[in-house]
Amino acid sequence: MQKIISVTSGKGGVGKTLTTINFALAARSNGNSVLVIDGDFGLANVDVLLGLTPSKTFADVLDGTCTIRDIIQKGPRGIDLISSGSGISRLANLGNLERSCILAELSRLPQTYDVVIIDTSAGISSSVLSLNAASHHYVVVTTPEPHALTDAYALIKVMAEDHDRIQCSLLINQVRSDDEGTRIGLRLAEVAKQYCGVTVTPVGHIRSDSVLNRSILARKVAWDGALHTVAGQGWSSAWRRIWDLTNSPQEREWKRPIEQVWSVLAGQTTLASNL
Ligand SMILES: Nc1ncnc2c1ncn2[C@@H]1O[C@H](COP(=O)(O)OP(=O)(O)OP(=O)(O)O)[C@@H](O)[C@H]1O
Ligand SMILES: [Mg+2]
Repeated sequence: MQKIISVTSGKGGVGKTLTTINFALAARSNGNSVLVIDGDFGLANVDVLLGLTPSKTFADVLDGTCTIRDIIQKGPRGIDLISSGSGISRLANLGNLERSCILAELSRLPQTYDVVIIDTSAGISSSVLSLNAASHHYVVVTTPEPHALTDAYALIKVMAEDHDRIQCSLLINQVRSDDEGTRIGLRLAEVAKQYCGVTVTPVGHIRSDSVLNRSILARKVAWDGALHTVAGQGWSSAWRRIWDLTNSPQEREWKRPIEQVWSVLAGQTTLASNL
């Protein structure tokens, strides 16, 4: 069954796009087919970091000049990508009708991918929340900084309150030590359980890695050796844990049929009411 996973955060700049690309690489290295959707509407970044220049984006879909299948682009290492377009204010300020239109198109995506990974923008806007709600599982990325942690907690809380989502994964990025990553992950999970009743699974932490800067500047984040760097190994093992979660019998979120998942995006229903 195709799995849809969103990578999200409360605070911006914490590493969602890098995480998305590295998860896609890890899934590819496991032999899975992958589609990445850049859900940072109007400020797309995935294409930039993959060295791609999209000729068509969601804006063309909204114009009715093409369908969602027409805007799937072939990226490096067998990663397929849907770019959301950059510098297009119309996409950054989607109204309900336009969002529904995009969401309806998303439900027409080919079901042939093993994994669809959505890179959301930061925060708790309707766009972010609905993309997370439409995914089988969402992964919160944060750094150890107090304001990033506060915003991560706020996002988890709002997802529980507004979308009845009581499970998610947590990835701590840019840690200075393994101890720091482990401690912060456990602490946030404890607080989320105690105050929101949400089961947060810490899936790992990523070291700050200066090698990344070179690949970012070269727009080659998905290079051959990416998963063998210190950070890449962290992302790879975090992905393994998420993949294991997907196959856990307790993880009932995975069993939601795809039409039901995407219909949330179109605002037709909530997942909880269908369980
Ligand atoms: N593990 C890491 N090691 C070193 N630098 C990192 C690491 N993770 C992120 N960075 C730095 O943080 C920057 C932001 O990363 P990224 O674009 O993935 O964040 P984002 O959460 O997607 O941001 P936005 O909210 O703007 O979409 C990168 O360009 C890089 O400089
Ligand atoms: Mg980003």
